[in-house]
Amino acid sequence: MILVTGATGTVGRHVVTGLVAGSHAVRVLVRDPKRPSASGPRVRTVVGDFADPAGLAEAMAGVRAALLITADPLRPEHDAHLVESARVAGVRHLVKLSALAVTEPGADDLITRWQREAEERIRASGIAWTFLRPRSFMSNTLSWARSVREEGVVRAPHATAANATVDPRDVADAAVLALTEPGHERCAHALTGPEALTPVQQTEILSEVQGRALRFEEISREDHLRQLCTRYPRPIADALAEGADRQLSGAKAHRDDTLPRLLGRPARTYRQWATDHQAAFRP
Ligand SMILES: NC(=O)c1ccc[n+]([C@@H]2O[C@H](COP(=O)([O-])OP(=O)(O)OC[C@H]3O[C@@H](n4cnc5c(N)ncnc54)[C@H](OP(=O)(O)O)[C@@H]3O)[C@@H](O)[C@H]2O)c1
Repeated sequence: MILVTGATGTVGRHVVTGLVAGSHAVRVLVRDPKRPSASGPRVRTVVGDFADPAGLAEAMAGVRAALLITADPLRPEHDAHLVESARVAGVRHLVKLSALAVTEPGADDLITRWQREAEERIRASGIAWTFLRPRSFMSNTLSWARSVREEGVVRAPHATAANATVDPRDVADAAVLALTEPGHERCAHALTGPEALTPVQQTEILSEVQGRALRFEEISREDHLRQLCTRYPRPIADALAEGADRQLSGAKAHRDDTLPRLLGRPARTYRQWATDHQAAFRP
């Protein structure tokens, strides 16, 4: 039995789809059973919350491998509860969705520190582990969708700083392999896309895919932070702005060949991602 947490989220729902396609028995942990998550004949749902260790014990019972996807850097106890319940239940393998920034010596923002600590906790648990360390998700550009739809404009900071963003579906495909194949224990997989693109280049690709001219407007760091504060608590907005700043020094432009090696095919391009998600950007 394989447990998927974060199963309604960006990566987790594709992981469930991939496991179902491979005829694996899957348990999904969701906090709200009304939220859509992938389903299938061998998918069972357990309702629980990372804040509630009792519910997690039920979710972990009889599980061989679990995918840990947590999303709140202000709640490190969520990560601690998951690892402790896995240890008590005798789970043999933890696959953790982490972040590539943990390897950057200059990265010391709240989110990166949280991910490093979560990895450390898993290492200390004695359970076999695999860390998936993706670069920024291509899907983050969905935050541009509204202004693209309504005004034909992308507003973003750091216009010409490149990022080797990765398609979250590729991250999910790597997670499926780590959960189902031997040989990923004690591996930390760096997962990047096949090209490092700047926001201006991403806007050009979106324009071509949409078949209409989109405008790019560079915004200041202050305006970016203001935007982030409308969506996240201040400490997380600050961490995201710090992360964006690191793009300026080229820290996020490196391309890694792990994904094509693992998947046996090229990693998806931003053009592919934009083509598959063009409905979100259409007026
Ligand atoms: N975005 C990026 O560029 C990027 C890059 C590298 C690494 N990462 C890492 O990726 C992870 C996030 O993955 P994602 O984007 O796939 O997730 P996501 O889309 O943000 O979804 C979060 C998932 O976690 C569930 N969840 C949140 N709080 C919960 C709780 N208290 N109890 C139970 N479930 C809870 C959510 O369930 P509900 O449906 O109930 O909300 C949802 O399924 C983070 O660790 C992040 O640091 C992201």
